[in-house]
Amino acid sequence: MQPKRTVIMISGRGSNMAALVEAAAEHGHPAKIVGVLSDKAEAPGLDYAARAGIATRVVARADYASADLHDGAIDEALEELGAELVCLAGYMRKLSPGFVRKWLGRVINIHPSLLPLFRGLNSHRQALEAGVRIHGCTVHFVTPAIDAGPIIAQAAVPVLPDDSEETLAARVLAMEHKLYPRALRLVAEGKVQMQGERTAFQGFRVLRESSDRALFAPEPDTGVVDVESLARFTP
Ligand code: GRF
Repeated sequence: MQPKRTVIMISGRGSNMAALVEAAAEHGHPAKIVGVLSDKAEAPGLDYAARAGIATRVVARADYASADLHDGAIDEALEELGAELVCLAGYMRKLSPGFVRKWLGRVINIHPSLLPLFRGLNSHRQALEAGVRIHGCTVHFVTPAIDAGPIIAQAAVPVLPDDSEETLAARVLAMEHKLYPRALRLVAEGKVQMQGERTAFQGFRVLRESSDRALFAPEPDTGVVDVESLARFTP
């Protein structure tokens, strides 16, 4: 089977894009990254893509009179690159309903939370404010509503008691870089598909040993004794 021609859309740093490019470069990978498109000419990720020998396109919002026209130009660029799949990787603009309808089931996105929790911006701040002990990231199909499409895959990380937004974001980002390439592989292989409001999974073996695996946060008692507090409370 020919690898699926995939275009990555970014607005900035592009670390997820780099993770996807690296994974797809492996021999026999079911996706081929044929282009990186940005709405920002200054997106640092564009340099990485160009150095990796990938076609880059800038489609800036300011060059178009409306969001619909902007998305029309993006659509043209995707067609011209021969895109079959599109990965949003830090693309910071809402796509218009017409664009989403045309590409439905072929555009996926990564969001830094365990959806449906903490949609939109500042997901790490939202997680810290809510006091959740487990946080993470989600890859989902893109639908007109932001961060609300059928979920493809998720990865979870613990929230540590002394986390700041930055430390938590870094822990989640490291997982994003593992999760997104896996999710792209599943979509490119046709093992997951968008079916209405759900994701349909095909050809998955049931791994019994994974059914009793869990992430605990805080960790169950590790047997570590805090000597200072022990001294304080010894009568
Ligand atoms: C990531 O946290 C991604 O989940 C979110 O935007 C951020 C983009 O980071 N949608 P990068 O540009 O991939 O480094």
